[in-house]
Amino acid sequence: MIKLTDKEFSEFAAMVHSRFGINLAKKRILIEGRLSNTLREKNLSSFDQYLSLLKNDQSGSEITQLLNRITTNHTFFMRENEHFEFLLHKVLPYFEKNHPDRDLRIWSAGCSSGQEPYTIAMAMDEYFGSKKHLWDTTILATDISMSVLEKGKRAVYPADSLEMIPDKWRKKHFVDLKDGTFQISSQLRNEVVFKPFNLMDPFVFKKNFDLIFCRNVMIYFDEDTKERLVSKFHHWTAKGGFLFIGHSEVLNRTATQYHYVKPAIYQKGV
Ligand SMILES: C[S@@+](CC[C@H](N)C(=O)[O-])C[C@H]1O[C@@H](n2cnc3c(N)ncnc32)[C@H](O)[C@@H]1O
Repeated sequence: MIKLTDKEFSEFAAMVHSRFGINLAKKRILIEGRLSNTLREKNLSSFDQYLSLLKNDQSGSEITQLLNRITTNHTFFMRENEHFEFLLHKVLPYFEKNHPDRDLRIWSAGCSSGQEPYTIAMAMDEYFGSKKHLWDTTILATDISMSVLEKGKRAVYPADSLEMIPDKWRKKHFVDLKDGTFQISSQLRNEVVFKPFNLMDPFVFKKNFDLIFCRNVMIYFDEDTKERLVSKFHHWTAKGGFLFIGHSEVLNRTATQYHYVKPAIYQKGV
């Protein structure tokens, strides 16, 4: 394994923190292990050479590749199902009452390969049923990693990854490709718009969001970065709108302007 010196590690950690808000302080062994292979693939003999490559890369593809190696894109359909229950039984009825314009703005921030935004889309289809065409229910799905966004757009998933999805939804929204995989129906695919976006970049959107999912993403960020991000989310949440985070994550209740609703669910005051 190629050795990572103290100086290289601190330079590395500083670069990743400033670009992505990701805190590597306790991840030295993981970095050394995971990136040794990268160095070998690139025929580099030291981390110092790799740092120069990253600094001189104008296209940004090297740094994105790096990010893919150090984060996990692990995700699955119906993950943390309490959120979808709450969406169906509380959030959507609330929006239905309070949205005379019938325009819902939903954002899956850190969507990985699409299982999260497609689960939201299936839940909305269930709730609105035959009235769905009266609503704008398009979901914005963003991630920093191009490779997961491509997977999300293709929307082809192995058969065993569909096990948690209710039968009714599976039958309605998936097409059997007869090779052990299933593809999300074109109708549902059209309801999710995938875009690259680094959550550390300034937020510029046309309108506020009614519902933001940012689940299992902030686990990588240090407390300051997380608080700054949550405050940006709050700014871009419509009054009465919701933020869903991962159940293993917590927001510092005194530092956030959102109201706590229940574990991993927060609401902006009306
Ligand atoms: C573990 S996945 C979570 C996927 C999904 N939200 C879920 O809960 O199943 C975390 C995702 O966050 C993305 N991510 C990490 N840092 C990011 C950043 N600074 N901006 C945008 N996405 C980021 C990663 O690329 C990864 O796809």
